[in-house]
Amino acid sequence: MKKAQMVIESSAREGGTDPIFRIAGAAEKRTKEYGADAVINSTIGALMDDNGDLVTFNAVYDTLKGLPNHLIANYSGLSGQPDFLEKVIEACFKSCKPEGYIRSVATPGGTGAVRHAFYNYTEFGDTILLTDWYWAPYKTIAHECRREVTTFPMYNEKGTFNIEGFKKSVLELLDQQKRVLAVLNTPAHNPTGYTISDDEWKEIVAFVAKTANDQPDSKIILLVDLAYIDFAGEGEDARNFMTLLSGLPHNVLTLYAFSASKSYTMYGLRNGAIICVAPTQDIADEFVNTCTFSNRGNWSNGTRGAMETITKIFSTEELYHQAMAEQSFYKSILKARAKAFVEEANAIDLKLVTYCDGFFISIPCKDPKAVSTLLMEKNMFIVALGKGLRFAPCAVSEEKCRRSPALILQAIKEIEDCV
Ligand SMILES: Cc1ncc(COP(=O)(O)O)c(C=O)c1O
Repeated sequence: MKKAQMVIESSAREGGTDPIFRIAGAAEKRTKEYGADAVINSTIGALMDDNGDLVTFNAVYDTLKGLPNHLIANYSGLSGQPDFLEKVIEACFKSCKPEGYIRSVATPGGTGAVRHAFYNYTEFGDTILLTDWYWAPYKTIAHECRREVTTFPMYNEKGTFNIEGFKKSVLELLDQQKRVLAVLNTPAHNPTGYTISDDEWKEIVAFVAKTANDQPDSKIILLVDLAYIDFAGEGEDARNFMTLLSGLPHNVLTLYAFSASKSYTMYGLRNGAIICVAPTQDIADEFVNTCTFSNRGNWSNGTRGAMETITKIFSTEELYHQAMAEQSFYKSILKARAKAFVEEANAIDLKLVTYCDGFFISIPCKDPKAVSTLLMEKNMFIVALGKGLRFAPCAVSEEKCRRSPALILQAIKEIEDCV
């Protein structure tokens, strides 16, 4: 008998827990049974200390808890609190502000920014361009908005960014839709850790500008998802590319999805923004009006206390330095863990896709699910993706990062020997 269905056809979804949360739950259970030392849990997409506890910045939580109740409890403005909207632009660009009309609208995390970009800058049924390694929720958000996604191979044969593939896909989509929205999740891409270099950016920008000039009736929207930027590069050099995205033609819009989740350990506080660098004042005003309307039509306002916290940190020198010191302390821990993993993988010939920085490292393999299931038997928990495995140095101590490649390589060999 056909199952009764009350939801409309296009909203019918398969149930079940998100696969990442399911495996994370299994890892937690195993840790309770055997103790933390016996288990390698590389499923978590958040910074954990070496004892497996969530890292939280004191500068953030002392500030939040010190706010008067009314600044936590009250609604915020629909587009966000005015002072937050200024400070979030500072937090995004720091000393690398591009030229253009820059405006921001607060969103619940980077997710909200991605949603607003997909919904407002593509037509219903349009196809959004992603790299073939991608953060799975992009597809969920696209489908929720009744859009499709397509991908191009992210790496070329040298293991660097596949600019030719990007160009080809942009031109194809422009032919079909006259409008293209491409997501570039950089620096420190999830799930690979790849960072598009400044030279690669120069080529991307030159191509986008030329294409936009050649096709003046088309529209090109670049959505830069920089959820992991504060854990990439040295000092502020991960932001250098931003100034390259300046002075683009009238039919190009750059959007940034800013997230306070990782940079300020504010995951559950749902704090972020969508930021535009528009070629004209009118396009910037239109951006603010549209995204504010979208806020009202989806979740109304954002989290007031979280906005006030960022505002206070960016308005108080001492507090800002404290927050940056905490960020850079954990950034160096993350770098040491990732270095240990990559060194060991190279030493034993475990193949990785190019990693530069950030929370995740990816290992391409033929049957990721089977390898991940086999590793679970050995008390190692790793996320299986479509094209490989995702290891999370953000959540695993340096010592365990060094031990992990051998376990993974052995499991890949066992599975591949079986087929
Ligand atoms: C690639 C990427 N983009 C955006 C986000 C958005 O996170 P949030 O909505 O918590 O800010 C995440 C979080 O995991 C992510 O991995």
